[in-house]
Amino acid sequence: MSAAFPASRISDPGGAPPLRWGILGPGGIANTFVQALARHTKQRVVAVGSRSVDRARTFADTHGIDRAHGSYGALVEDPDVDVVYVATPTGQHHENTLSAIAAGKHVLVEKSFSRTATGAREMVAAARAADVLVMEAMWTRFLPHLDVVRQLVGDGGLGEIQTVLADHGQLLTPGGAPRLHRPDLGGGALLDLGVYPVSFAGLVLGAPDSITAVGELAPTGVDATVSAVLRTGSAHAVVTTTLTARTPTTASISGTAGRVEIAADFYTPAELTLVTAGGRRTRGLDAIRGHEGLCYQAAHLAQQVADGRTESPLLPLDETVSIMETMDEIRRQIAVGRSVD
Ligand SMILES: NC(=O)c1ccc[n+]([C@@H]2O[C@H](COP(=O)([O-])OP(=O)(O)OC[C@H]3O[C@@H](n4cnc5c(N)ncnc54)[C@H](OP(=O)(O)O)[C@@H]3O)[C@@H](O)[C@H]2O)c1
Repeated sequence: MSAAFPASRISDPGGAPPLRWGILGPGGIANTFVQALARHTKQRVVAVGSRSVDRARTFADTHGIDRAHGSYGALVEDPDVDVVYVATPTGQHHENTLSAIAAGKHVLVEKSFSRTATGAREMVAAARAADVLVMEAMWTRFLPHLDVVRQLVGDGGLGEIQTVLADHGQLLTPGGAPRLHRPDLGGGALLDLGVYPVSFAGLVLGAPDSITAVGELAPTGVDATVSAVLRTGSAHAVVTTTLTARTPTTASISGTAGRVEIAADFYTPAELTLVTAGGRRTRGLDAIRGHEGLCYQAAHLAQQVADGRTESPLLPLDETVSIMETMDEIRRQIAVGRSVD
């Protein structure tokens, strides 16, 4: 195999036809998302909905958004909204997404898609019945560097994949990040951070045949630290996540013919290093950096809608459900709460 990188096939996010977006839950990530759209796309954010009309108005004024709704119901019923971005805590995604689907909207749902696979399956069934596009906002999937990785794995150039390593740990205390320590809001390391390594492992190896997990719980009962081995055939993915330390947040894929390493933070636009018998080569960063890369998922969704699709080929809904099933099983093994449901 040559030590060369294929070109990314991800289109310029500025080229996607515009949709009219409504923001449901004007919190931290919604703020970052709206800025990324404004800077790099033609997408139009036309409305925001909050449980408080004052918070909606403040967010709207900050971002130059026309309409501020004092309830999520009013937002999803807004006739000028084509697509709803669900940016509430994970524990709320199920209810918020179902209401947006019932109003006939397309929906981009923040990760984790739901708290459980059961919830995810209900959301997927509702989306398919309503013939709207629903997509998990696993934004890494839509980034240029990940498309390069997808091609390296897909063309067999790494040989037979043996080991996938992926990690995501951050220091998130109850004082600094209260929602992550609340079971009712879908807190815990796995659903908030570990979903990135789990999704990455799924992209490379598919659904695991077997899962072996260990974990430590925080005082509130959410998972604080989790390590799991996901085995597919004879290939192993080792995924680690924690709320209690800033960890390397890197990933790698090792095959019989070579290895690709993704530098920190692997789930954002990141540098790649390819190590093969043909040599060692590094691919630098793409032009759009950090969380501004959130624009790619929005542009991708808008393009799918324009093309008449109701599912993303880069992240089909069955795969989102499969990722939730993997996390359900990990949570069952480490006994998060009494039951994952
Ligand atoms: N893609 C990424 O890089 C990324 C990064 C961070 C988070 N996320 C995901 O995005 C989602 C939101 O995370 P965030 O960090 O933006 O959270 P956040 O800052 O706490 O904002 C969440 C928003 O949801 C609304 N909300 C509805 N019910 C709530 C409740 N019971 N408690 C608290 N807020 C509630 C609130 O808005 P109103 O009360 O005004 O309606 C709040 O502003 C999570 O699913 C998380 O996993 C993704």
